[in-house]
Amino acid sequence: MSSIVVTLASSVSGVLAVPGDKSTSHRAIILGSLAHGPTMVDHLLESNDSFCTLEAFRGMGVAIEKLKSEQYLIKGVGLHGLSAPHQPLQMGESGTTMRLLLGVLAGQSFRATLIAETSLARRPMLRVVTPLRQMGAYIEGKNGGEYAPITIQGGGLRPIRYESPIASAQVKSAILLAGLYASGETVITEPHLSRDHTEHMLARFGVPVRRQGKSISVKGPARLIGQKIRIPGDFSSAAFFITAASLIPNSSLLLKDVNLNPTRTGLLTVLSQMGAKVQVIHKEVTDEPRGDLQIESSHLKGTIVSAELLPTLIDEVPILMVAAALAEGTTTILGAGELRVKETDRIVSMATGLRAMGGQVITKGNDVVIQGVPKLHSTRVHSYGDHRTAMALVIASLTAEGETTVEETDCIAKSFPSFMECLNSIQKDS
Ligand code: S3P
Repeated sequence: MSSIVVTLASSVSGVLAVPGDKSTSHRAIILGSLAHGPTMVDHLLESNDSFCTLEAFRGMGVAIEKLKSEQYLIKGVGLHGLSAPHQPLQMGESGTTMRLLLGVLAGQSFRATLIAETSLARRPMLRVVTPLRQMGAYIEGKNGGEYAPITIQGGGLRPIRYESPIASAQVKSAILLAGLYASGETVITEPHLSRDHTEHMLARFGVPVRRQGKSISVKGPARLIGQKIRIPGDFSSAAFFITAASLIPNSSLLLKDVNLNPTRTGLLTVLSQMGAKVQVIHKEVTDEPRGDLQIESSHLKGTIVSAELLPTLIDEVPILMVAAALAEGTTTILGAGELRVKETDRIVSMATGLRAMGGQVITKGNDVVIQGVPKLHSTRVHSYGDHRTAMALVIASLTAEGETTVEETDCIAKSFPSFMECLNSIQKDS
């Protein structure tokens, strides 16, 4: 298992374009496969998770051709053109693949089994299985359908009005995808607004999506038309470098073409409350806002992060914990329970790593309280197989005197295989 040795950085500076957005890449593959006619995708994320989605659709008979690096041509088969897979579909460690695919498979009259690797096999699925059963899909799996492997047979769906107990884009997307197949209006209401890439991309593929407050609805049966899509840079990948440049003195970093969808950029709101100097210097709105970010180092101060804001920075909490560990004063992150069901319990994996480096982290139920310290120190820390924990701890290590070893870093390939290359291109050593 690989590890990364990190030394103190004197600055992170220069210009960087991060790889394509993971959420949008999954959705481009899914909707491209279900559309009529070809879909051309540029700047698709080439990572373990996005490849799981791509292989799953190939396994159901969709021709997906790689034209060149990050450019793919998807020959869409239409909503009813998928064929029964000859073998179980491998979801790897990709929660988004598994949950969104369950939504698509709920609309198919064939039977399919989804299998998962280590961390995904422990992640909860009833959150999507329950509403899909209400729509009429037959689903069985370990512990009553909570865990993979899961077998699903769909078809003949009815529309539902579903009140989700959690703000989850994966739950919302699974229901909306199934809703494409049900005759009539399917409505999902969430407690707080989660990322809305599925809504944007459905509209782009020609499916009207209605939003009313926290409710989203689609009408089935739908018809999707192939598109030409350029995926923006992943804000969640950019977040590591935004935070590094904010924390490390003498830094000045320009990040090009990042997805700035407001349902994703809660970290910018929180960092600016903390005193970070991040400027959007060029913004365009195609179907989602995207643009360039200029970041200068700053002196961060503690803040309070409300539970309502959390869905907009759900994947950024690990790196936010690093910022908080080095900010002046106390940072409180409220209602972070969803962090406990990611690739690891991220509250625990991050608290353990930061404490080993001298950080002061207290957890009270699902709230996290971090008292900033002036410096972290070098040691050995562990990712516990969680890509975002691994990358957050690498960034934390850039601020520590001496050599820090981050163990079990292969997992970074889940979302950001070129993370170290990107970091090396902007890191200046002391
Ligand atoms: C994702 C939604 C989020 C996020 C995950 C990707 C998506 O999960 O954590 O990395 O692409 O829909 P939840 O919707 O379960 O919070």
